[in-house]
Amino acid sequence: MSLPQIQRRTVLKGVAAATAALAAPRVFDAAAAAAPAGKGVFGYGVASGDPTGTSVIIWTRATPPARPGERIAAPGSGCGRSIPVQWQVARDERFTRKVAHGTVHTTADSDHTVKVDVTGLDPYTQYYYRFHSLGEYSPVGRTRTAADIPGEVHALRMALVSCSNYTGGYFTAYRAIAERDDLDFVLHVGDYIYEYGNGADRYGPKELVGVRDAQPATEILDLEDYRLRHALHKADPDARAAHQAHPWITIFDDHEVANNAWADGAENHQANEGSYLARRNAALKAYLEWMPFRLPDQSVSHQGTRFFKRFSFGALGDLSVLETRQNRSKQVSYPQSPLDGFVPIGVSPAIDGALASPQRHLPEPEQLTWIKDGVSTTGRRWHLFGNQVMITAVRYPGSALGAGNVLFVNADQWDGYAADQASLLGHLGAQPAAAGDVVVLTGDIHSSWAADLQAGSTPAGVEFVTPSVTSDGFYEIVRSFLGNPAPETAVGATRQITGAVQQLNPWVKYLDGVGHGFTVIDVTPERVQADFHHTPVPTSAAPDPRVNPGVLPTYTRSFRTLAGTRRVSAATGPVGPRTDQPR
Ligand SMILES: [Fe+2]
Repeated sequence: MSLPQIQRRTVLKGVAAATAALAAPRVFDAAAAAAPAGKGVFGYGVASGDPTGTSVIIWTRATPPARPGERIAAPGSGCGRSIPVQWQVARDERFTRKVAHGTVHTTADSDHTVKVDVTGLDPYTQYYYRFHSLGEYSPVGRTRTAADIPGEVHALRMALVSCSNYTGGYFTAYRAIAERDDLDFVLHVGDYIYEYGNGADRYGPKELVGVRDAQPATEILDLEDYRLRHALHKADPDARAAHQAHPWITIFDDHEVANNAWADGAENHQANEGSYLARRNAALKAYLEWMPFRLPDQSVSHQGTRFFKRFSFGALGDLSVLETRQNRSKQVSYPQSPLDGFVPIGVSPAIDGALASPQRHLPEPEQLTWIKDGVSTTGRRWHLFGNQVMITAVRYPGSALGAGNVLFVNADQWDGYAADQASLLGHLGAQPAAAGDVVVLTGDIHSSWAADLQAGSTPAGVEFVTPSVTSDGFYEIVRSFLGNPAPETAVGATRQITGAVQQLNPWVKYLDGVGHGFTVIDVTPERVQADFHHTPVPTSAAPDPRVNPGVLPTYTRSFRTLAGTRRVSAATGPVGPRTDQPR
């Protein structure tokens, strides 16, 4: 998370966890997650990711067909023999101009996933790739390398997404992204999967019960569970299409393991669920198997496993992908809070002291230094951050939470680690103009934001926050709190609350708590623009657009930041065609 879910969930999660722990061993059936395993070798499609100027990861899952008497090698099953898989990369869709090929073997040890780091490629070039095994070809994937050419500046455009809860709705944002051909990559900043089951802990609209269910059906806890949950997402036709159409750059947040995770625990991990670290190891193993993710060089100073990494795009800019779960200090908590994860400020010296403590960290200190160095030493025009939880300081009015005149902060965001927040923003604010400007790209809070970052009163950059693909946002929470009034009433109440948040935080230039979808981020030497794409505003005729697979998010609003200003400004309309195309 995250946007707080209603307290009811906290009460029920103990019951759900107990149920999960008691559940009988699963039997693999023809349910959605396992079904593609029975439909040929490459039923989970193809994906690519982490493009540099000369390399890209290509991915698939190759299921060996079951021989008589054998169990099907369904994801998570641990079954199935080793099989050879050939891969090919070409400049054209018909594979007449091949540039690279090879053979790998895949086994049950990697859940029969296949990942190849294809090297020796040309920068800013479009490629096609496919796999072949046991007489079958995979679908053809399209990918491209980064425009990382010294002295050259090219177009740079991406789709920013986060929070794709399978039971929360159809992945229509992914469908809209798949249909575009103007993107260099998709940037997913976390909550690609959620850990919840279909019981009392189910997360999402009731209209989708029986239609779009989690698999396995209970909260995911071990390697088998996490693999099957990932497979469910690759079985989704919209997710598969978006992976096939573009390379992705991804980083996990909390729900890839469990809600509101910290270094050695999580809000949604209970003592009867076994070792948290064993659970996280299983979750991250499945993540690395099922995502087109390149583990970076571990020799850079870090703690645990290094996941943070940087991509560059010539003189135009770079993208630092942050990782803020593995080493973070435990969140400050306030059991009497009206909302999970929110804490009051100015009420308890213990809470205020903990929030401000320099002993508590979000990224580990080594990573914070790496983030700062990336801004001050490269000389590039723009420094983008792929970031999980909001860094903008946001005070929430207690009155909107039914908690009187007290102000609250979301303790799971950078506000909950105020010393790190001040240290980073202070560094950004102190950079000379020649260092370029910072644009932070964030998700997690299931709503759309554009905000100025400030170090005291000094401009430090901007933050654009993308709405969730499907996960419940302010609107769904408000509507539930109000006892499910007419959608129009709930939309009005949501806008009242988000308006009050903006009033209290005047550096927040835009906040929409109703729409779901994605954000197109377009970078030129002159500006970085964010085009928000949202599902339609709910009405009595269509109270939840997320349950309609035919309704795609469409363009709603744009904001931008002009080079040298470190401020959000208005944009007149959506971005036009790209200024140039890759080879
Ligand atoms: Fe989320």
